[in-house]
Amino acid sequence: MAQEVRGVIAPGKNEPVRVETIVVPDPGPGEAVVRVQACGVCHTDLHYKQGGINDEFPFLLGHEAAGVVESVGEGVTDVAPGDFVILNWRAVCGKCRACLRGRPWYCFDTHNARQKMTLTDGTELSPALGIGAFAEKTLVAAGQCTKVDPAVSPAVAGLLGCGVMAGIGAAINTGGVGRGDSVAVIGCGGVGDAAIAGAYLAGAAKVIAVDIDDRKLETARTMGATHTVNSKDTDPVEAIRELTGGFGADVVIEAVGRPETYRQAFYARDLAGTVVLVGVPTPEMKLELPLLDVFGRGGSLKSSWYGDCLPSRDFPMLIDLHLQGRLPLDKFVTETIRLDEVEKAFERMHHGDVLRSVVVL
Ligand SMILES: NC(=O)c1ccc[n+]([C@@H]2O[C@H](COP(=O)([O-])OP(=O)(O)OC[C@H]3O[C@@H](n4cnc5c(N)ncnc54)[C@H](O)[C@@H]3O)[C@@H](O)[C@H]2O)c1
Ligand SMILES: [Zn+2]
Ligand SMILES: [Zn+2]
Repeated sequence: MAQEVRGVIAPGKNEPVRVETIVVPDPGPGEAVVRVQACGVCHTDLHYKQGGINDEFPFLLGHEAAGVVESVGEGVTDVAPGDFVILNWRAVCGKCRACLRGRPWYCFDTHNARQKMTLTDGTELSPALGIGAFAEKTLVAAGQCTKVDPAVSPAVAGLLGCGVMAGIGAAINTGGVGRGDSVAVIGCGGVGDAAIAGAYLAGAAKVIAVDIDDRKLETARTMGATHTVNSKDTDPVEAIRELTGGFGADVVIEAVGRPETYRQAFYARDLAGTVVLVGVPTPEMKLELPLLDVFGRGGSLKSSWYGDCLPSRDFPMLIDLHLQGRLPLDKFVTETIRLDEVEKAFERMHHGDVLRSVVVL
């Protein structure tokens, strides 16, 4: 029996989001219905609302979520009703060329639910990142449910489902930050701060936070930044070189998604160091660099999707580290809100007032 629940939809390009009745089908083969307990508000939800991802309106927004599995369909063995899970957007297929080469974090055929959630008039919804969790319940592929220790608060756990994992993973998976490294992070929003927390966790000796907003730099210190640079009034490349004996940082993480900050990252890196682009650019952005500098400076230029994470490997580990007091995931939750306050949360995000607003159900 399909169920009717409340959920937040984006009805059309730039139209305000609103709470509607959503029809959630019973889980089919390989699917699960999850009772959502908490879901963070991410920039990508705003991009969907603005029509920046695609025009498959109406969207069912929300994708940084944790909750409890309510029911599972035929053939589901990895999760069962009652399991506390974080939802992920990388349910790996195990069969594509990346999976078969032992690099499942690059999986090219990740799973989502096959059935559609709808409005009561039958209009099909497009769930954000195949999740759609600003809703009391949502239908996903069972592989999108990753079991973690239920001792963690759902509002904190859900954040690992997207932006915070992207940042931590940019540092520890893509950037390979290790003990003693010097690291610089450009852009200290939720993703950049998570990269800082990840670098700190991995044993970086120096973690330099760069932003144009002093409030962001203050928070960055609480995440593990050892130095801060306001690039509004200081040249960040020079400042980072100065702080690293004149050489530049071993790993520089760009968490803004703009050509000028990418250029800063490129030149603020030590020879043979690593640049990681985790910020998401827009289609019209272009980058011009002397090819000789790209060659002559060696090292590697990488981009990081979802922190190159493997949810089954990374989520339980990071929740355990948080519960041990070694990863301050709780500091990313600026405020908890209701389902009908998502529009206001977008406003606050736009003004840079929050790291994360989290809808608690
Ligand atoms: N790669 C992924 O898988 C992934 C996942 C989630 C989000 N993202 C992307 O990561 C980026 C950051 O996301 P967020 O949630 O932290 O956003 P945010 O808006 O909270 O943070 C951006 C930060 O950059 C700072 N900033 C802006 N312009 C700057 C400049 N010129 N120099 C230095 N700092 C500057 C802002 O003050 C802010 O603190 C976005 O582009 C987002 O789309 C990527
Ligand atoms: Zn695959
Ligand atoms: Zn997200």
